Amino acid sequence: MIVCVCHRISDRDITHVARRCESFDELQFTLNVATRCGTCLDCARETFEAARCGAHAGKVAAPLE
Ligand code: FES
Repeated sequence: MIVCVCHRISDRDITHVARRCESFDELQFTLNVATRCGTCLDCARETFEAARCGAHAGKVAAPLE
């Protein structure tokens, strides 16, 4: 699904890049998402947070040695 129409950025694009970003600002700097009209800001932020939670969940679920 396209999240940012202005820059043609999909939820998959955000999820892919979010795993390598430390903050939403870094995501915006990398993809330019939500940097024009701003209509997509809430959806982009939610997609970013969901991707970050997924990334952290994978780390938490790793077995302890
Ligand atoms: S829809 Fe993303 S900046 Fe306009």
